Amino acid sequence: MSTTLSLRGVSKTFGAVAALTDVDLDVSPGEVVAVVGDNGAGKSTLVKVLSGVHRASAGTIAFGGEPVEIGTPAVAQALGIATVFQDLALCENLDVVANLFLGREVRRGRLDEVAMEVRSWELLRQLSARIPTVRIPIASLSGGQRQTVAIARSLLGDPRIVVLDEPTAALGVAQTAEVLNLIERLRERGLGVIMISHNMDDVRAVADRIAVLRLGRNNGVFPAATVSTEELVAAITGASDNAVSRRHDARSVVR
Ligand SMILES: Nc1ncnc2c1ncn2[C@@H]1O[C@H](COP(=O)(O)OP(=O)(O)O)[C@@H](O)[C@H]1O
Ligand SMILES: [Mg+2]
Repeated sequence: MSTTLSLRGVSKTFGAVAALTDVDLDVSPGEVVAVVGDNGAGKSTLVKVLSGVHRASAGTIAFGGEPVEIGTPAVAQALGIATVFQDLALCENLDVVANLFLGREVRRGRLDEVAMEVRSWELLRQLSARIPTVRIPIASLSGGQRQTVAIARSLLGDPRIVVLDEPTAALGVAQTAEVLNLIERLRERGLGVIMISHNMDDVRAVADRIAVLRLGRNNGVFPAATVSTEELVAAITGASDNAVSRRHDARSVVR
């Protein structure tokens, strides 16, 4: 299986602050890679580099085997990297269809409401999403349903990679399960998923591999099926030398 997205030695500095240093990351089709780390570890900066909000200061990014420069959000979109930011950027007062097509409305003279509604149902069905009606304002949806709408919107551009920033933060148990289910649908469709998260249970439930960032650097890539919460916490906090030796094992297995 060929790698869709490959980062090598990616760094990002803001003046004297090194937000990312020498970061490597690989994502293949049909793979969910979780990125975890403490506050300030560089997770959001990584999301912004991938989505074209920030340009990497150093290192290389390959997409589909070709070196690319993700200079702007439009370039990221055109390549096929879709990002769902933590704030979701939905319009509360508009309905589901309007939010899905915000900025890329289907026009045939006038707005083609029927075509957009049909496409909305298609997208939500592909995700096995539980939304009662697409003509309901976002304000009346639950947190999980909003996340669903934001993810469905990211699929409109037919991406190969979907980046999710903290998709389960602030969700209850049932809604979290719904969103994790959705991430599995993305994997089934052959998309590569990068999921930023604070929640160790969530990442262990849904990820294939878990990449730890610590102080802007890689601090291990672990197979989600076998890593323990203790090992992850040790890598995140830098508390244990054990995690370091384990990390080299894990890397040689997955590479
Ligand atoms: N625009 C910026 N200007 C200066 N420093 C920044 C900027 N964005 C992030 N940083 C710094 O980079 C580091 C990583 O931040 P961030 O990527 O937000 O971490 P995380 O999302 O893992 O909490 C932090 O030290 C943060 O203060
Ligand atoms: Mg952040």
